[in-house]
Amino acid sequence: MTIERIVTGIPGFDEILNGGIPKRNVVLLSGGPGTGKSIFGYQYLFSGLVRKEPGVFVALEEHPVQVRLSMAQFGWDVSSYEDRGLFALVDAFTAGIGEAAKREKYVVRAPDDFQMLIDVLRAAIKDVSAERVVVDSVTTLYITKPALARSMVLQLKKVLSGLGCTSLLISQVSVTERGFGGPGVEHAADGIVRLDLDEIDGELRRSIIVWKMRGTSHSMKRHSFEITDKGIIIKPKEVIVVSHRRMGEYE
Ligand SMILES: Nc1ncnc2c1ncn2[C@@H]1O[C@H](COP(=O)(O)OP(=O)(O)OP(=O)(O)O)[C@@H](O)[C@H]1O
Ligand SMILES: [Mg+2]
Repeated sequence: MTIERIVTGIPGFDEILNGGIPKRNVVLLSGGPGTGKSIFGYQYLFSGLVRKEPGVFVALEEHPVQVRLSMAQFGWDVSSYEDRGLFALVDAFTAGIGEAAKREKYVVRAPDDFQMLIDVLRAAIKDVSAERVVVDSVTTLYITKPALARSMVLQLKKVLSGLGCTSLLISQVSVTERGFGGPGVEHAADGIVRLDLDEIDGELRRSIIVWKMRGTSHSMKRHSFEITDKGIIIKPKEVIVVSHRRMGEYE
C-alpha cells in the first residue's frame, strides 16, 4: 500500500524524504538560533497555499505583523489567502495587547493557558480546513515548565493529527546542544528534522539531516542547503561532513 504524503514543495526536501512527509505526521523541526527554522516553516506553509492546501501558523515567538512581513520578504504574501479564508495566523504572542493585535482574528488572550491555545488552534484549523500547521516554537510553550513538555506535545499531536493536519513543531536548541528538544518530545514526535550551522574552514555552512520519519525511508545523509531571497534550497546530492562534531564536544 502506498502511503499518502504531503509534498512539501521545499526544493530538495521531498527528494531526501523519498516523496514528502507522510500525511498526519507531527515533525519536530529542531535547530539552533539562526539555522533557518522559521523560514523553513513559512516556506512549508506557503508552498501548501500554492498547492491549494490551506495552512495555519501559530506565532509564539514573534508578533503576527512581523511574521507577515518576514514572509513577504521572500515573496510569500499570505494576506490574500487570509482574506479568502485559506490561511490563519494564530496570535499566541501579544495576548491581544496593542492596536495591531486588535485586528487579529485568532488571538490566545492568555498565552500561558495551553488549553486556550489548543481551543483557538482547533478553531483556526477548522475554519480554514488546514492541511498544514506550523507551531513556532513549541519550546516557548514549555521552557518554564519542562516537566509538561511531553504531555503538551502529545496533546498537540492528538489535535493536529486528529484533524488530518501534517505539522511542523519548531524546537529551539542551544548552539552546543546535541539533541532535538528533550527525550519526551523527541519520542513523541513522528519525525525529527534538524537544521545546523557549522563553521568549516572559517565559514558557516548550513546543513539538514532527517533523524527520523515514521512511515517512510529517507536519506541518512547530512545535506547542505542554502537560504536565498526565494527561500530554502536543499542539495540532495551534496553531503556535508562535519568532522569536528565529536561525541562529548557538546557537553
Ligand atoms: N533573504 C535572505 N537570504 C539569505 N539568508 C537569509 C535571508 N533572510 C534571512 N537569512 C538567514 O536566515 C537566518 C534566520 O533564519 P530564521 O529566522 O529562520 O532562523 P531560526 O532558526 O528561526 O532562528 P531562531 O531560533 O533564532 O528563531 C538569518 O540569520 C540569515 O542568516
Ligand atoms: Mg525562528
